[in-house]
Amino acid sequence: MERSLMNGAIENRMQKFMFEGKHIVVGITGGIAAYKAAELVSQLRQRGADVHCIMTTHAAKLVSPITFGELSGHDVTVDMFANISHWDVEHIALARLADLFLIAPATANIIGKVACGIADDMLSTTVMATKAPVLVVPAMNTNMYENPIVQRNIQTLREVGYTVMEPEEGHLACNTSGKGRFPKTEAILAAAEKLLFGRHLLRGKKVIVSAGGTQENIDPVRYIGNRSSGRMGYAIARAAAMEDADVTLVSCTKELPVPEGVSVCYVQNARELKKEMDARFEDSDIAIMAAAVSDYRTKTEAKQKIKKEAHDALQIELELNPDILYGLGQKKTHQFLVGFAAETNDVIEHGKEKLVRKNLDMLVANDVSQKGAGFNVETNIASILYRDHTMEQFPIMTKEELGRVIVEKIAERL
Ligand code: PMT
Repeated sequence: MERSLMNGAIENRMQKFMFEGKHIVVGITGGIAAYKAAELVSQLRQRGADVHCIMTTHAAKLVSPITFGELSGHDVTVDMFANISHWDVEHIALARLADLFLIAPATANIIGKVACGIADDMLSTTVMATKAPVLVVPAMNTNMYENPIVQRNIQTLREVGYTVMEPEEGHLACNTSGKGRFPKTEAILAAAEKLLFGRHLLRGKKVIVSAGGTQENIDPVRYIGNRSSGRMGYAIARAAAMEDADVTLVSCTKELPVPEGVSVCYVQNARELKKEMDARFEDSDIAIMAAAVSDYRTKTEAKQKIKKEAHDALQIELELNPDILYGLGQKKTHQFLVGFAAETNDVIEHGKEKLVRKNLDMLVANDVSQKGAGFNVETNIASILYRDHTMEQFPIMTKEELGRVIVEKIAERL
């Protein structure tokens, strides 16, 4: 059975416009980090969200509502009893409109009020009236954050289903250092994306993903490498983390930002990659080999830079590297094992052969000779082959989208 398809939901969610069509209400409270919420609102809007801001009166003393009005493209609500021209009952209208409700920064005060059911201003009233998922981003002085009352209130919010992010550690506005900093915008965006689109498909699963191209040293300055950028593996790791998996990337590159919530272990050559994949395999539920592994390495590595003056012609003897994926296939017990095949001809035939020989559950075959597919580009064109001899072919899509497809397909077959 061979079919060609493209999941519409996935097609519509280009990374850049990941919040397209979503209404996000952002509540800004009176912490010094209120100025950082301006960047957050800007990023949400740039990524397609329709953003509405509600500020507390304290927040409006720290940053002008005009800033948030300009960045969101909508009037900012501060006063519950101000003249309102465009909403019937504004707190109810915004509460209903929201696909996601974000409170960022969230002070100890708003956390306490919401936890105790107090609704005495526009923000606390609107949160109380919403049925949308709520994402709370605390930012405050460390002592306040660690205060057992604040911690108890945070716990209460979590128990009723709100998502409360952990603040970062570091320098604080009160000139001390500790836990309480407003998280990075990227981390908040990732948490928002997870709440809006995540389906918990891999909850409780441990996933290892290899990414990038190995480098085999010739001498201290030269190596044998390949054109893999790591994007495909990083996209899969990101998609798996969004579906609640516990993800570790074993990465041959340090060039890419590590996706939020993903652990990373850096390696350079095939033997290091094998060591790290082997060490984690027993304990994992899913292993995905997206890395481009050098089949050969130099038999000896020169300790000093090889000088051209000493050689008219240079011969380098190569020896075979271990096939990491084959090794994992041999010792697999409960794990779902996914391999890739980078081919330039007879892609499906080679893919089928690799799937069987390496004892895989799934194989992603990409024809790396096609424009827009394979190494070091933003997109890929893939066919997914399954152990039961079925296959699905996909049109060109971004690697982020393909990462989500791969994760969905794994989840369907677990
Ligand atoms: O990183 P990008 O720039 O985003 O590019 C993505 C990619 C093209 C690298 C990716 O989509 C891909 O195809 N990765 C696999 C590349 C590869 O090594 O293919 P292969 O057909 O040579 O190997 C088959 C499988 O065996 C792969 O899963 C590979 O990781 C694994 N292998 C290969 C050799 C080896 N010694 N050990 C292995 O485990």
